[in-house]
Amino acid sequence: MKFFHFRIIILFVLISRVPAGAAGLMRSQTDTISKDTAAFVSPYEEDNQRCFKCHGQSKYSYTNESLGREVRAMMFSERIIKKEDFYKANHKSFSCTDCHSTEYTTFPHPGELRMEAKLNCIDCHGGDETYHFDAIAEEYQKSSHFKLESEGFSCYSCHDPHTYKISVRNSQNLRESIAYDNAICLDCHSDFNKYQLLSDHEEINILKKHDWLPNQAAHMASVRCIECHTQINENLPVAHLIKPKAEAVKRCNECHSQNSMLMASLYKFESKEQRKDGFFNGIILNQSYVIGANRNEYLNLLSLVIFGGMLVVIAIHVFFRINK
Ligand code: HEC
Ligand code: HEC
Ligand code: HEC
Ligand code: HEC
Ligand code: HEC
Ligand code: HEC
Ligand code: HEC
Repeated sequence: MKFFHFRIIILFVLISRVPAGAAGLMRSQTDTISKDTAAFVSPYEEDNQRCFKCHGQSKYSYTNESLGREVRAMMFSERIIKKEDFYKANHKSFSCTDCHSTEYTTFPHPGELRMEAKLNCIDCHGGDETYHFDAIAEEYQKSSHFKLESEGFSCYSCHDPHTYKISVRNSQNLRESIAYDNAICLDCHSDFNKYQLLSDHEEINILKKHDWLPNQAAHMASVRCIECHTQINENLPVAHLIKPKAEAVKRCNECHSQNSMLMASLYKFESKEQRKDGFFNGIILNQSYVIGANRNEYLNLLSLVIFGGMLVVIAIHVFFRINK
């Protein structure tokens, strides 16, 4: 009987704390608008223009020698590279022909170029200490997606060589960065055509699969897919081991608690920076209330009142039992 009462008390305290934590969540973000510095000017601007004149937009034209006139045609959307995205990306200082054969300057492109071998990230970035490419590659090889390599999956499936840019590490606006990172996954997970290139799996409705998350839209705007789907690795800035779906994070308190796992993933870069400046305590206080440490005082009071009330009930019970 007593045991039963204690369970109820614990339940009440827990229930009264969940919304209290959530109330603090709303005050979380200090979104600053990122101020773009002067636009990047590539030394290869002119060279690249040879390719952008066709690959930079949805229409292109060329002189058809057998017809002896200019022909206009549509560029497939998959072959379009937005110029402004390219010059903001990690590889903005490259010439197209650093990675592609110079034979692409002729059109129609020679057919054998289709068979051209591609460089991997590691071919150029192996041994890197800042981003830990080798450790990332190792994790990727243990990831759920790795079995799709034979179907064409690779680092490039998530990191477009032309448009990928470092996001959360340099983030001025966490929400924007989260949206950027989630779009990487949704590129396939909300586009069944792309998904089907890799798998015969039946169509999966991502919204339905995450029905159990309250206010799904708010969650998807505040955390990344990789928070719940990768295995945390203290030594890696961005964990890359996508676990099987059955091992995805589902328990609320993995995030909504004082020692939230988000400190080791999403908020990692912020806390490291703060640690350097000796403001680590500040970030713990600031961020963990985001995820549930700082409670609403009225709700706290309420939980105390409930707690007190239950103690009184138990006391009365015990009193009558002893005096029976
Ligand atoms: C006159 C227009 C035109 C120009 C200029 C042009 N391309 Fe293309 N490119 C195309 C079209 C159309 C395709 C799709 C048809 C094909 O694969 O040939 C294509 C396809 C490609 C492909 C994909 C080939 C594949 O395996 O599917 C690559 C890579 C490429 N171009 C690179 C370049 C580079 C690099 C340049 C500049 C040096 C360039 N292109 C200049 C029109 C052009
Ligand atoms: C850092 C190396 C690198 C640079 C620089 C680069 N590419 Fe690519 N490009 C690649 C790789 C790798 C692929 C194959 C991607 C894949 O397998 O998904 C590719 C694929 C392509 C394709 C085929 C469509 C696609 O996106 O998969 C086109 C078209 C293309 N590149 C054009 C260009 C043009 C135009 C430029 C210059 C503005 C350029 N590339 C610069 C590495 C590069
Ligand atoms: C052809 C060689 C080559 C390939 C292939 C390549 N990179 Fe790079 N990458 C570079 C170079 C060189 C730089 C530095 C560019 C600069 O400083 O302007 C760079 C820059 C970067 C940066 C930014 C680093 C910084 O400090 O700003 C990231 C992140 C990056 N690459 C990721 C990747 C990923 C992920 C892949 C594979 C999907 C890849 N790269 C493929 C050569 C390459
Ligand atoms: C399933 C998708 C996916 C695949 C596959 C993938 N990555 Fe990533 N990667 C991400 C996401 C998401 C981020 C976070 C981007 C950000 O916020 O800057 C990231 C970040 C990175 C970063 C930046 C880390 C940092 O410290 O800021 C590097 C470098 C990188 N990936 C390399 C690779 C390499 C190399 C491979 C292949 C061995 C690979 N990735 C495969 C999704 C992927
Ligand atoms: C290039 C397309 C593509 C991208 C990008 C992609 N995925 Fe996937 N993913 C797939 C396909 C296809 C499957 C189904 C594999 C199968 O047939 O079992 C899959 C499976 C999964 C699974 C289930 C794994 C299992 O074994 O149960 C999870 C979880 C997942 N992806 C998460 C992600 C996350 C998180 C990202 C972004 C960081 C991402 N995916 C990016 C194509 C993609
Ligand atoms: C709060 C944690 C959380 C977030 C955030 C999250 N997921 Fe999930 N996801 C899960 C859990 C838990 C499951 C397993 C659900 C089940 O078994 O019914 C799952 C299932 C999946 C599956 C497997 C579906 C299947 O049945 O094969 C995919 C794919 C997936 N998520 C992709 C994503 C993508 C893409 C995002 C980002 C837009 C994302 N998830 C964000 C927790 C999360
Ligand atoms: C991967 C980490 C993570 C998991 C798991 C998670 N949450 Fe959240 N949740 C967050 C973050 C971060 C926010 C902050 C939203 C914001 O920006 O205000 C949030 C917001 C909320 C909110 C307020 C959102 C709103 O505006 O309605 C509630 C309520 C909530 N979570 C309850 C839950 C419950 C219940 C579960 C378990 C079923 C859960 N959360 C699982 C990270 C998580």
